[in-house]
Amino acid sequence: MFSAINRCKLWSRLFASEITLPKAFAYPALRSTRDNFKCPNCDQALILQPETQPQTYRCNNQHSFDLAREGYLNLLLAQNKRSRNPGDSDEMIRSRQRFLNAGYYQPLADAIIAAVAKAANGTEQSVLDLGCGEGYYLQQLRIASQNVASQKLASKTTASDTKSSNQTLKLLGIDISKFAVRLAAKRKIDARLAVDSVYNIPLFENRIDTAVSVFSPISIEETARVLKPQGKLIMVGPGAEHLSGLTALIYEQSLPHGGNTEGLEKAAQFSLLEQIEIKQTIVVSGSDIIDLLKMTPYYWHSRPEQQEMLTQLDKLETLIHFNINIYQNQNS
Ligand SMILES: C[S@@+](CC[C@H](N)C(=O)[O-])C[C@H]1O[C@@H](n2cnc3c(N)ncnc32)[C@H](O)[C@@H]1O
Ligand SMILES: [Zn+2]
Repeated sequence: MFSAINRCKLWSRLFASEITLPKAFAYPALRSTRDNFKCPNCDQALILQPETQPQTYRCNNQHSFDLAREGYLNLLLAQNKRSRNPGDSDEMIRSRQRFLNAGYYQPLADAIIAAVAKAANGTEQSVLDLGCGEGYYLQQLRIASQNVASQKLASKTTASDTKSSNQTLKLLGIDISKFAVRLAAKRKIDARLAVDSVYNIPLFENRIDTAVSVFSPISIEETARVLKPQGKLIMVGPGAEHLSGLTALIYEQSLPHGGNTEGLEKAAQFSLLEQIEIKQTIVVSGSDIIDLLKMTPYYWHSRPEQQEMLTQLDKLETLIHFNINIYQNQNS
């Protein structure tokens, strides 16, 4: 009925509550309320109240959550917070957004896009970014899916091409930092976003085709629970030499990274399918250098004079080194 692109635009306008559709069309991307976020109080599905309160999600037990102006839900209950503003700070997140938007990690984004495309199995793929930060990788996935859809629509399509151009990518993201989720929502990428913890994912079981985790913490049990049987987990962590050009200016001894997949290697819930290594040199310029420092934990280990020296630097040459491990969910 709708083309892939129009459906995409329609969904984002609906999500932003710009338009009201007849009831039968109210939730075009959701087959069941179990595709919605869960209420953190009672685990019932949260359902939008389009007629009475178009910005409010409510469960059957009348717990309600208002959609923030930018279009995300804050599902992190006060009693589940260890601090007032858990997760990465506003300053760290803004530095990361500027640095990532400058394209330095494009090779990683391209590898994630390729891994998500390879994991696709059917006409609809739900992708959950765990610890999505300010949404850079979600946006990269959305742009890639729109490019594929528009290329296919622009070319003279055969019946089978038309079918594959209808492939829909449902994007979801959670992060414990409200600052991060707010910036991700501002990207307007037609993703369902919530502030919550990866240790208590606000989704029903067996809902997600592909989970992505980039430099973020992960719960093996929770990730396996929300993934469909045979669903994929794309786990990105630092290679041993990641940012060695930066750390050489901060630490006296080199500190090789240990990676972040130790628990997964022993987990019965996941089997390793593929490993991809990305290692290349980048040249970071101007104020991007201090943004790079601020988006990493090295910032807290650096002395004020080192920060000042990095602020004065014109160019910084460094390796970027990523390990991507792709796992399959063994839960059935
Ligand atoms: C290093 S950043 C990576 C962000 C993003 N994946 C990226 O690569 O740009 C780690 C992220 O994990 C988030 N985080 C930390 N603990 C978390 C938790 N328990 N649940 C969800 N997110 C968490 C932080 O707020 C931060 O945005
Ligand atoms: Zn509830």
